Amino acid sequence: MSIPGSPRSVSSEGSGSPPALDPSTLALLDSHFAARAEEENLFNQLAANRVSNYVAGLSDNDSDGSATGSQKLSLSVTEFQQAFGEDWQLSQFWYNPSFAERLADLIHTLAPDTAVKVAFLCCPTAFVAFQHAKHHPGAALLEYDQRFAVLSPKQFVHYDLNEPDTFPEALQGQVDLAIADPPFLNEATNRKLSQTLRQILHPTRGRLLLLTSTQVQDVLNEVYNQAPLGPLYKTKIVVEHSQLQNDFACWGSWPEAANLGVEKQR
Ligand SMILES: C[S@@+](CC[C@H](N)C(=O)[O-])C[C@H]1O[C@@H](n2cnc3c(N)ncnc32)[C@H](O)[C@@H]1O
Repeated sequence: MSIPGSPRSVSSEGSGSPPALDPSTLALLDSHFAARAEEENLFNQLAANRVSNYVAGLSDNDSDGSATGSQKLSLSVTEFQQAFGEDWQLSQFWYNPSFAERLADLIHTLAPDTAVKVAFLCCPTAFVAFQHAKHHPGAALLEYDQRFAVLSPKQFVHYDLNEPDTFPEALQGQVDLAIADPPFLNEATNRKLSQTLRQILHPTRGRLLLLTSTQVQDVLNEVYNQAPLGPLYKTKIVVEHSQLQNDFACWGSWPEAANLGVEKQR
């Protein structure tokens, strides 16, 4: 039944009647708004849990009770993606959960010791999968979207690649392994990101894993051409997204990276 005058009415009346949407468009809109509402609800629950843990004194403590400035992440990649919708204005396209989990396992093999300092730049799903698989207090997430602060407040670093020299002093020259997925596929974005990476990576032992489109391969060869950022070696890792058919690949800044992804990762 349609209610006269309601925007939901489907009407074939003349010019005096309000604009109407056809039922299939309405159904799409309904499911879109229902999904957004569910997402908001999950995000609010997550934020509320974080606050109540903090009030109870549990926040930012490890299981042994010692404060290390980080905390275990119980959230799985699937749960993360349900609570954090992709914001396409920010070029957010999430990895699919199974890829994110395989990538996380791989990063754990590259950083087996929790003293190894790992930085995730512009790749929150990878951070979530990594922290969910195994707690790693020496990991940081550098991201523009402030929503992700709720994941692990002390590991989150607000980062805008348009201000590539702005990052915590504690990261200067300290990062052993950086994983980055730049938001935009152009030279300017990669130049800014590389400016940050050059400063935060350890000058001799620092390594980079870069995930991006093969469309910018030429740019990569120019921008990431000096240690510890490059030269880059294309890995055999097959990058998979949830909602993006892509031509992505993954490059590493050390020669053996060329063999990453050859072995079955799970
Ligand atoms: C192409 S997505 C990569 C996400 C990755 N596929 C994942 O699943 O984790 C790029 C990321 O860059 C972030 N971003 C967008 N604009 C940014 C900016 N100005 N500075 C830093 N990060 C930014 C987005 O929030 C997004 O998480």
